[in-house]
Amino acid sequence: MVKPLLLDDRLGTLPDYPFARLTALLGAPSGPGATVMSIGEPQHAPPPLAAEILAREAGLWNKYPPATGTEAFRQAVAGWLGRRYDLPAGLVDPDRAILPVAGTREALFLIAQAVCGRRDDGKPPVVLLPNPFYQVYAGAAAMAGAEPVFVPSGDGPTGLPDYSTLPPALLERTALAYLCSPANPQGKVADTALLERTIRAARRHGFVLAADECYSEIWDQAPPPGALSVCATLGEGLSHVVVFNSLSKRSSLPGLRSGFVAGDERVIAAFARLRSYGGAATPLPVLAAATALWNDEDHVVANRDLYRAKTDLAERLLGGRFGFVRPEGGFFLWLDVGDGEAAAKTLWREAAIRVLPGAYLAGTGADGRNPGQRYIRVALVHDLQTTETALSRLGALLDG
Ligand SMILES: Cc1ncc(COP(=O)(O)O)c(C=O)c1O
Repeated sequence: MVKPLLLDDRLGTLPDYPFARLTALLGAPSGPGATVMSIGEPQHAPPPLAAEILAREAGLWNKYPPATGTEAFRQAVAGWLGRRYDLPAGLVDPDRAILPVAGTREALFLIAQAVCGRRDDGKPPVVLLPNPFYQVYAGAAAMAGAEPVFVPSGDGPTGLPDYSTLPPALLERTALAYLCSPANPQGKVADTALLERTIRAARRHGFVLAADECYSEIWDQAPPPGALSVCATLGEGLSHVVVFNSLSKRSSLPGLRSGFVAGDERVIAAFARLRSYGGAATPLPVLAAATALWNDEDHVVANRDLYRAKTDLAERLLGGRFGFVRPEGGFFLWLDVGDGEAAAKTLWREAAIRVLPGAYLAGTGADGRNPGQRYIRVALVHDLQTTETALSRLGALLDG
């Protein structure tokens, strides 16, 4: 008699991850000539600085890195935040308000474990998520024993959730709210007023705002405001706010696994404690490279220009069709194709173009609808020529 394993049944409540669902729909993403636009993996050349410093600091691979990183790294991040968001000196204490993380993904997941405490009334804490959303938020909520509440972002690429308008009783139960700006998948930027309302609500009702800003440097017309710049104008320090960012999109280095979390020192202290048990510390050579990269803006400007050229191209090729809205930030197109899964199948079968059905990036809302159903997400991560060829084919094939 073999006893069954006792696995965590909360894992079973999660849908398969979007890329597993895509493989089930289309088969494996192999074969020469395929254009993979389903995953937001930048294909731009990373700045040479990264490889140079990794080679120079290779003698440090035999050391365990401290979970809190190096002082130089924390200073570089604090300096960058100060310049980027015009923060007053002293608002972000490099030693108490900043932690290195192995990319924002693991940090966005793990933060829920640190802030979703047990409630006196025995009810599960609530985690607010935008809908559609980056799927890690839902996994984080489920595994923290919280109740995920999907908050509609409005149809199409137009909206972001306004948590401040939710019923006060729900906000009182809320432990954590995720907000992504620029948003994946819609490319919408949260303006200062929305950020202000959200931060005020977090403070009034005692929840943490997790601001996912990993696309903050890929913007079209103007640099998006950040949660920390709004904290600077609101007063009360960084209370109830943590921001997440990384070099994955800014510096085209998703493989480096290097990011940071910055914000409310109480949350950062709890997070550091949790991470000292279960977080992935960032290796010292990686911290050295990251320090130099947060101090360098030239490569970021060049990277952004390349994305802007592809957005221009997309507007020229697809504007006026598929509900095209020029993304304010990030590098995704969110196109209304009527039936996202059917469109993804057609593109793969006819042109070896791989895109993600929007339904895989959204949950069924209170109204029983999946707001991503009609959409596909197209990642503009390739070079200009590849993008032009793929978008021309896409436009021709989906027009019928
Ligand atoms: C919205 C959003 N947040 C976070 C991440 C994670 O990025 P990383 O862990 O590379 O920083 C991604 C990656 O695609 C993303 O789209």
